[in-house]
Amino acid sequence: MKKFHAVAIDGPAGSGKSTIAKRLAKELGYVYVDTGAIYRTVGYYIWICGIGGRDGDGVRRLLDDVNVRIEYPGDGLQHMFLNGRDITEDIRTPEISSYASQVSAHKCVRDFLLDTQRDLAASHNVIMDGRDIGTVVLPDAEVKIFLTASPEVRARRRHSELQEKGCKDSYEKVLADMKQRDHQDSTRAIAPLRQAEDAVLLDTSEMDLEEAIAAAKSIILGKLETV
Ligand code: DC
Repeated sequence: MKKFHAVAIDGPAGSGKSTIAKRLAKELGYVYVDTGAIYRTVGYYIWICGIGGRDGDGVRRLLDDVNVRIEYPGDGLQHMFLNGRDITEDIRTPEISSYASQVSAHKCVRDFLLDTQRDLAASHNVIMDGRDIGTVVLPDAEVKIFLTASPEVRARRRHSELQEKGCKDSYEKVLADMKQRDHQDSTRAIAPLRQAEDAVLLDTSEMDLEEAIAAAKSIILGKLETV
């Protein structure tokens, strides 16, 4: 019998995965694992090395020099360390979003990060969010949610987040980048973004944050009751 429970939340950028997962992990006493941050860490390294994210050979060569460490120091944040340096804040730029999406399409990168994600779920109760958690990383997760919202709603949310951080990108640019990333993430050959057959679909286009959290919580508690 499995010792720990896993909640898998997959969905496109800006669907609210991390905000909802973070809040519910705290309420349930689970560890929140943001797998996008793990891909961003690799994307960040490839970016600072000046290699194109689509350059498969270049990316593969550089992976030998990448050491990714995840820490939960108790401030509610998942801290990402790249070769010993805390780069938690540095990976939250539109440029690194795009790099993360590009490098995550390479099999070598996905293989490189798979055990890191599975090891966390083997040693903690987790709410893990990403693109392929319910389909590939944790196919036996007790709860699977596919979270989505219309591209316009997701872009509006992401645009306000970026504005709060001082980023001047227009709403139109954020929407275009998001559509491009959705396309890239859902059409790649390996572990594309898609809803697992046994995942519950939750569309938050018409919901505010509290309604979305309540809806996700009710799905999670309902499923956990049956295991
Ligand atoms: O969740 P995010 O926006 O921080 O993710 C950044 C990119 O990382 C996303 O565009 C695709 C990739 N990713 C992935 O391929 N698989 C995951 N499980 C999580 C993220």
